[in-house]
Amino acid sequence: MGEKVLVARQLPNKFIQQIEQFAEVDVWDSELEPMPREQFLKRAADATIVITTLSEKIDETFFESAPKIKGVVNLAVGYDNIDIDLAHNKGVIVTNTPEVLTETTAELGFTLMLTAARRIVEAVEYVENGEWKSWGPYLLAGKDVHGSTVGIYGMGAIGEAFARRLKGFNCKVIYHNRSKKEKAEKELNVEYRNMDELLAESDFVVCTAPLTSETKGIFNKETFKKMKDSAILINIGRGGHVVESDLIEAIKQKEILGAALDVVENEPIAMDHPFLGMKQVIVVPHIGSSSINTRDHMVQLCVDNAKQIIAGSEPVTPVKK
Ligand code: GLV
Ligand code: GLV
Repeated sequence: MGEKVLVARQLPNKFIQQIEQFAEVDVWDSELEPMPREQFLKRAADATIVITTLSEKIDETFFESAPKIKGVVNLAVGYDNIDIDLAHNKGVIVTNTPEVLTETTAELGFTLMLTAARRIVEAVEYVENGEWKSWGPYLLAGKDVHGSTVGIYGMGAIGEAFARRLKGFNCKVIYHNRSKKEKAEKELNVEYRNMDELLAESDFVVCTAPLTSETKGIFNKETFKKMKDSAILINIGRGGHVVESDLIEAIKQKEILGAALDVVENEPIAMDHPFLGMKQVIVVPHIGSSSINTRDHMVQLCVDNAKQIIAGSEPVTPVKK
């Protein structure tokens, strides 16, 4: 066959067996420990395809180490771990996993919003700590989501799926995006705002944007000051969207109320990170698309993309220039 697929994370056998039908397979044998960089580079040396996760940085060093590479197949919709221009300049195909994870990721964002609004993490801890003495008039009183104004930063597929869910909660939905989305405005009754307006009007600000040089650090000291002091930030984009020291300070100074984060700047989070000691901040371990069904769909899409690239055909979901 002569084609080798390096799979940087352990995946269910049913998928590995499919790859074995069209290529030699080399699979890293851990689901939760990323491949050490040297191992990855060494084992990529004779690979034609790598199936990567966000843990693998695809940069100049990678391309130098992997001279036979034809395709980088990323098990994620985001691909900020990959130097796309460099890959394209080298004629290497890059694929991601859009669409299949849209609804599941929006759902996690929605879960985070409700969880933060109704202080569910604190409430569970309260019960488990034996603090529950009686019904209290304002016991763990939180924020209503229904009837609130929700500002979506990044109106792509996930932003739209989020907006659709808000309809049932009778929310006012505003958004900010690089380009205006006329179709979403009509279909979902969402209104465009410039960034300052979005920040000023929103009770919940939800980040669903991809991480780029334009969006990096967009939630910072200046932007937190423009938000309501009762606002909650939900981040299902990338940790790099938020300047974490500024978020900590903004919450301490009561410039905003709190945050619920699926992503942080450095994952996994350090156990001495200040977020972990703040009851106004909820952190979950980057599980946005993690339902069994959706992860199956994402992995299958990677297998299909790898197969197409090896066959010399157009992959199912290429990242375009
Ligand atoms: C996960 O964050 C993804 O980009 O799919
Ligand atoms: C609370 O349980 C209520 O009945 O208001």
